[in-house]
Amino acid sequence: MPSYSSKIEEIRRKEYGYIKDVTYLDHAGCTLYPSTLIHQFTQDLTSNLFGNPHSASPSSMLSSERIESVRSRVLQFFNASPEHFDVVFVANATAAIKVVMEGFRDLEGGYWYGYHRDSHTSLAGVREHATVSRCFARDSDVEEWISAKDEGADTTKLFAYPAQSNMNGRRSPLQWCGQIRRNKAKTYTLLDAAAFLTTGNLDLSNHEDAPDFISMSFYKIFGFPDLGALLVRKTSADILMKRKYFGGGTVEMVISVGNSWHSKRKVVHSALEDGTLPFHNIVALGHAMDAYQQLYGSAKNVSSHTAALAKTTYERLSAMKYSNGNRVCEMYKDPLATYDDATTQGPTVAFNVYNWDGSMVGKSKVEEAAIKNKIHLRSGGVCNPGGVATVLQLSHEDMRKNFDAGMRCGDKNDIMAGKHTGIVRVSFGAMSSMADVDRFMKFMEATYLRGGMSLEVPSGFFHEKAGSIKKQKSGGLRMMIKNIARGHTQVSA
Ligand SMILES: Cc1ncc(COP(=O)(O)O)c(C=O)c1O
Repeated sequence: MPSYSSKIEEIRRKEYGYIKDVTYLDHAGCTLYPSTLIHQFTQDLTSNLFGNPHSASPSSMLSSERIESVRSRVLQFFNASPEHFDVVFVANATAAIKVVMEGFRDLEGGYWYGYHRDSHTSLAGVREHATVSRCFARDSDVEEWISAKDEGADTTKLFAYPAQSNMNGRRSPLQWCGQIRRNKAKTYTLLDAAAFLTTGNLDLSNHEDAPDFISMSFYKIFGFPDLGALLVRKTSADILMKRKYFGGGTVEMVISVGNSWHSKRKVVHSALEDGTLPFHNIVALGHAMDAYQQLYGSAKNVSSHTAALAKTTYERLSAMKYSNGNRVCEMYKDPLATYDDATTQGPTVAFNVYNWDGSMVGKSKVEEAAIKNKIHLRSGGVCNPGGVATVLQLSHEDMRKNFDAGMRCGDKNDIMAGKHTGIVRVSFGAMSSMADVDRFMKFMEATYLRGGMSLEVPSGFFHEKAGSIKKQKSGGLRMMIKNIARGHTQVSA
């Protein structure tokens, strides 16, 4: 249940001085590091000698010991037993997904790939090596597929989905992994937990029902370091060990001259961690977990604190109306999700803005206005092609037409053929506060409702066409009307 932490203002003052002048609402992009973490990490680096791991020197041994200790702490963080799980350190969640893809790609018989509509682009890309792929547009389609008689039982299959949509924060049913294991032959599951773990509590104590593979980026949980991991259920690791590539550190022996032969390492992480590990980052991860536990206690606390913030924001944005009764925002929450239930919804709020007359305000215009008011949020397609297309009702034909007309990811083609091309997203993290919500709402009200007062527009004042001015009264009113027509770009305007 949502429950706001009263300690947060003090934590903010002590640990996050660097955001005192801004309102940071992009935790789904990257959450923020506390000063304690940076100080402890710096202290550690400046008082110890860390060498390249895996040799006999004391500096090298120190790095190796630290890596193994942090590896086991990562398992503890998720309540995962070392008997059943291993941690493969990689650069980020995308790299973790690619490790899984490499195993499946190199299977003799190829693989079938299924992925959920809400998947991040990095999951969608796995389809490119699959023999056949299917994007599931609805949960009910996934459930039907799980319970259906197994066709193509000889084919190895991989089903991937995000634990939380990075677009609107909708959380997916985690029980699918166990159901798939029980009902489908030769079918593996990849849970992309990158967005979920910023505020979600992942408990892997029940290894029978756990996903086979879990991808994550630690900067999204702790703010720092820039590091990722793939958690692998050991009984499912064989498939990953089948990948053909080997890199420095992943082999026991390689023969190159006169013949080509090699023998791979047998321990899961040793066989999959290519090259020198980012060992300084792994050292930092140990400090990141210390600081997180010291400041917030547990992921459960973070989850309920951030749920309270998102619920308030969602309710206040949904209730914002012009005096003619038109809503300011169209909200993109999944109908099955609720901010009161952390199993269905994470602390992300996705929306688009409309003018008083129902005309659309481009997503990038909202972001530009926010930037002028020192508010950091996200707008665009947010690397979630299926989720965004669904909420904006963009068919694949619409998307191709937009592309052919010049639209590209991250550009300012906000509205095409009468439809939004992307969304506006605000997302919360462990250190977000109710003051952030208030500042954001004040910005929305001042920009779109003129300081909280909805504007009565006399009938006949405007042409039917949005924004054109027919009559003008006083200079002040004229200025307000112009700003409405432009999409209200500044609070002070
Ligand atoms: C759900 C999800 N998956 C994957 C990624 C990719 O993460 P990274 O860029 O750290 O690899 C993100 C990033 O926002 C995400 O939200």
